[in-house]
Amino acid sequence: MHRGKGMKFVGDSRIRDYEKPKLNRDYSEFPGRTEDFWPDFLLKEWITGAVFLTAFMCLTVAHPAPLERMADPSDTGYTPLPDWYFLFLYQILKYTYASGPFNTFGAIVLPGLAFGALLFAPWLDTGKARVWYKRPIASGLMILSVAIIFYTTWESFTYHDWEKQDQQGKIVFSNLDKDSEVYTGLIKSNCTSCHGGELTGGSGPNLIKSELPAEAVKGFVENGSGDMPGFKDSLSAEEIDQISKFIADLNETDADGNKLDAASTKDSGN
Ligand code: HEC
Repeated sequence: MHRGKGMKFVGDSRIRDYEKPKLNRDYSEFPGRTEDFWPDFLLKEWITGAVFLTAFMCLTVAHPAPLERMADPSDTGYTPLPDWYFLFLYQILKYTYASGPFNTFGAIVLPGLAFGALLFAPWLDTGKARVWYKRPIASGLMILSVAIIFYTTWESFTYHDWEKQDQQGKIVFSNLDKDSEVYTGLIKSNCTSCHGGELTGGSGPNLIKSELPAEAVKGFVENGSGDMPGFKDSLSAEEIDQISKFIADLNETDADGNKLDAASTKDSGN
């Protein structure tokens, strides 16, 4: 049976069917292309959700959160580092005109301008063209920003001291007694700014792992070395003796407080 046979079409083909495209058409116009919310649609949603959830769970088991030791505000040797997606901002802060006296510019004004421009883009750029190459200013700025973000992220990855980064936050157990008088009275105020609150190192080396005898520690404290100042004038001989003995007695331990032998102490540093 031919469609329309025996029928006369009287429609005028010069008149458009719809003056405007008819949006929000009823689903009944697409038989076979609809589905029920329950259970068809929800089942698909749940399956997708379950796949992602399982994948995330596998990821978290394979790569546990990189926990560091407890934060210590007195440890000024600790260099905080943002996650990879903010490394570009971190790197920008290292440039001369974005750091030091220009810190406000690098930390607030520059990112503020960039993100502000993004926010106001719809009002700043009212061009009608939709193809990217017909909007050279907007596209150029975007490509430039992406290039800057890529470059600074790469620069940050390349020039950062990752070995030191790993060491500084590492959870180390030691026989350091932070309640002892030598620690609270002498070490905390004189040494932790460089050697870290846990004495595991900052701008100065790790004193827990250092295996110097008390005499050698005394030499460092009295006379200083390299970037370390001598304390001969600011501390009494007795205080220096106490400090030296205290430092020389420090050892790395396991989680239960048992002393590690020298060999395993060395291994754990890698
Ligand atoms: C201004 C930062 C700073 C301060 C404050 C400081 N140190 Fe140091 N310390 C260093 C640096 C840097 C070194 C490495 C020196 C070198 O290699 O010549 C060092 C090295 C040492 C060493 C030798 C470690 C080794 O294994 O070679 C000892 C021990 C030491 N410091 C103890 C102390 C003690 C105790 C105090 C507090 C009384 C103290 N330091 C305060 C920066 C500092």
